[in-house]
Amino acid sequence: MGCDVVGIAGGPEKCAFILDHGCSAAIDYKTDDIGAMLDQLRPDGIDLYFDNVGGETLEACFERLRMNARIVLCGSISEYTRDVPFKLSNYTRLRATDSVMRGFFVYNHLDRWEEVMDDLSGWMADGRLTPVQDVEEGFAAMPRALANLYYGANVGVQCCSVRGEPQEWL
Ligand SMILES: NC(=O)c1ccc[n+]([C@@H]2O[C@H](COP(=O)([O-])OP(=O)(O)OC[C@H]3O[C@@H](n4cnc5c(N)ncnc54)[C@H](OP(=O)(O)O)[C@@H]3O)[C@@H](O)[C@H]2O)c1
Repeated sequence: MGCDVVGIAGGPEKCAFILDHGCSAAIDYKTDDIGAMLDQLRPDGIDLYFDNVGGETLEACFERLRMNARIVLCGSISEYTRDVPFKLSNYTRLRATDSVMRGFFVYNHLDRWEEVMDDLSGWMADGRLTPVQDVEEGFAAMPRALANLYYGANVGVQCCSVRGEPQEWL
């Protein structure tokens, strides 16, 4: 889409992976100081932050918003297992920069499903999008497939195949 993307991932292998898949820079949130890295990589700040994790990463991005920036609130995985919710200290950066934060929940946009499928399949056909999946096999593997997300064990989209299961279960 023409964006210059700084990706944030956990560990050197995943950072190498996102650099191979369209990011122009990578930050390892497990070992890097996210704010210091953003200052170094993009000293002019951030126009758009697509948030999948919340917490410290969101706070670091809030601190570095450019004027009229946009934040897409898609997910908050760092929050799901915390005993005490992270308390964002700098949400007023939205006001100071005239920025907008908006929720995005895929099930609220089902009327655009076919349009999105056309876009995604077109990008796959012309090589702009390379889907990567991690597939666990069978119903019994579903808990592990879910846990993979929280341990970061998956690299691609985590799926669970039930193709081999008895038909009456499906
Ligand atoms: N808004 C919607 O409609 C919608 C729909 C589905 C999912 N979501 C949300 O989108 C996000 C991504 O979900 P997904 O299903 O696509 O799976 P995903 O990108 O594969 O997310 C799992 C990844 O999150 C990272 N992670 C796990 N714990 C983390 C933590 N404490 N801090 C930072 N990163 C952490 C791990 O990567 P690393 O190894 O790199 O840490 C893991 O591989 C989730 O927040 C999910 O709730 C939103």
